[in-house]
Amino acid sequence: MSESTIESILQEKRLFQPAAEFSQKAQIKSLEDYQQLYDRAKADPEKFWAELAEQELHWFQKWDQVLDWQPPFAKWFVGGKINISYNCLDRHLTTWRRNKAALIWEGEPGDSRTLTYAQLHREVCQFANALKHLGVEKGDRVGIYMPMIPEAAIAMLACARIGAAHTVVFGGFSAEALRDRLVDGQVKVVVTADGGWRKDAIVPLKTQVDKALADGAAPSVENVLVVRRTGQEIPMQLGGRDHWWHELQPQMSADCPAEPMDSEDLLFVLYTSGSTGKPKGVVHTTGGYNLYTHMTTKWIFDLQDTDVYWCTADVGWITGHSYIVYGPLSNGATTLMYEGAPRASNPGCFWDVIQKHGVNVFYTAPTAIRAFIKMGEDIPKARDLSSLRLLGTVGEPINPEAWMWYHRVIGGERCPIVDTWWQTETGGIMITPLPGAIATKPGSATLPFPGILADVVNLEGESVGTNQGGYLAVRHPWPGMMRTVYGDPDRFRKTYWEHIPPKDGKYIYFAGDGARRDEDGYYWVMGRVDDVINVAGHRLGTMEIESALVSHPAVAEAAVVGKPDELKGQDIVAFVTLEGGHTGSDALKAELKQHVGQEIGAIARPGDIRFADALPKTRSGKIMRRLLRDLASGNAVSGDTSTLEDRNVLEALRDEG
Ligand code: WT7
Repeated sequence: MSESTIESILQEKRLFQPAAEFSQKAQIKSLEDYQQLYDRAKADPEKFWAELAEQELHWFQKWDQVLDWQPPFAKWFVGGKINISYNCLDRHLTTWRRNKAALIWEGEPGDSRTLTYAQLHREVCQFANALKHLGVEKGDRVGIYMPMIPEAAIAMLACARIGAAHTVVFGGFSAEALRDRLVDGQVKVVVTADGGWRKDAIVPLKTQVDKALADGAAPSVENVLVVRRTGQEIPMQLGGRDHWWHELQPQMSADCPAEPMDSEDLLFVLYTSGSTGKPKGVVHTTGGYNLYTHMTTKWIFDLQDTDVYWCTADVGWITGHSYIVYGPLSNGATTLMYEGAPRASNPGCFWDVIQKHGVNVFYTAPTAIRAFIKMGEDIPKARDLSSLRLLGTVGEPINPEAWMWYHRVIGGERCPIVDTWWQTETGGIMITPLPGAIATKPGSATLPFPGILADVVNLEGESVGTNQGGYLAVRHPWPGMMRTVYGDPDRFRKTYWEHIPPKDGKYIYFAGDGARRDEDGYYWVMGRVDDVINVAGHRLGTMEIESALVSHPAVAEAAVVGKPDELKGQDIVAFVTLEGGHTGSDALKAELKQHVGQEIGAIARPGDIRFADALPKTRSGKIMRRLLRDLASGNAVSGDTSTLEDRNVLEALRDEG
């Protein structure tokens, strides 16, 4: 975030009360109701979650113990047997929801499809049998590298049904990034498509899978299942590794009972970037995740039975997992999935989708809202958006100006906005308004969800005072929390639970965000405090991008920082020193950007590359990123530079910028 954004957030005083008509029909109807829930949960979190687990979910067998907390490792509903695919599908089939739309899908070229709960259940069962047919067993891992088509959700639910864990890899990631994840997750089968539509072009997914698997680079992968989506010619290793979905699926029986899973069995691994090292596999398990995504969806999106709910995320991110697939379906809601993105040929496509399907609840990202503002309000104003009754945002802090525009132009000044703070690691939303209960302030995620003992602390773990900056933290385990880093419990402990040293056996979850709490107890999240860059709501580790740059033969050393960007929130600036014999040029800049795109994906491509003779370092050889951040943003270099080894370096970099 830019200085000016922080400044305006600090001065934000507007307060928006939920409308009486909204509150009357809402799940949680008043601040008193919220406060009661919050206090009850705080007094006895285990009792609170256990009651909800009993009321809201189907268990094949009840648990023996609600929480087994051996910090930092938590087990929820120990001994309970449950299946999230059963809770998302089967249990709705014996009710009127059997023939309700479960999934409404819009393809980018304008094709669409609706699956009722009965139809979705049938597809999931058949695909689960297809996975079994290819040798997938309970405990195996399945990779999903898909466009936003119904088969992505079907594949996820099919894995959950038979107890195979899925690893969804965002379709915008490169073959190299895909390979790393397939190898780390020891994935047995990959589900993909020939391609997907994005901004009027085909994303060649199957080709990327072929590249990722070339030369036996991911030897655990035995089979690849391919959906025909875009229809272009692609090479298939038929009779061997590759199988067409449309050939296998019809041959499969629609009878596939959901496997009773242990509450703590692995549900999925989702990779996310941190400040150091390679992306980490965030592990989520079954029972607690099911409960947490179910409850947050129910109370925050306030789903009514006739609602059409649309979250614009991609299933490759946690938002897609929790709030396109599992949370909404567990609640028996109608969830909408859209393949496309606003593009030059159709900048109003989101509003067309809302108008066409009468979307009632709409959940998107601040970066998208800022892009809409730029395109002008005539575009949404030319559509009928009167069906909307609730709006949401996620992914990064929203600047009050963007919040006000969203409220006025999209929400017609009648829709509450839920600004939801959470992370891949938290599994579900943690700090948010409950829309019928909590008055909103533009730019604030407001108050913690019941059962979440959030706080703003210093590095000693002490709560800081009102309106003082500190670190966002959580003081008690919650059902949706990540359980570990896949294959690396030590990294889990160090990154999240020992950053603030535990005292007297009390562990505090360190989120990596800066925040403050105002006089009403409202949280204002300021952004990352580590070397993580948030580009258009996507999280990227500086070290990943630096490694990608250094893998280019011309690059000797690289340091990557974020700089404020009007549209994307942050953009990537790379400072690069070259190997002898290479000279900096515009052509080389373009080549390096391209190279990072190849290594990670287009989202990681630096917006700006600056060549330097040397990088500013401390005497112990640590790159001084703080200085680079100042330079990248065009600010005067602030703070202490006395530890800098060679002051001339700074002058040279300044001239280059
Ligand atoms: C990071 C998590 C969780 C879904 C999407 C991103 C930032 C997320 C907000 C918000 C301010 C936010 C934080 C967080 N963030 N939501 N409402 N206000 N910041 O998931 O990739 O795991 O990134 O996104 O910095 O730590 P993610």
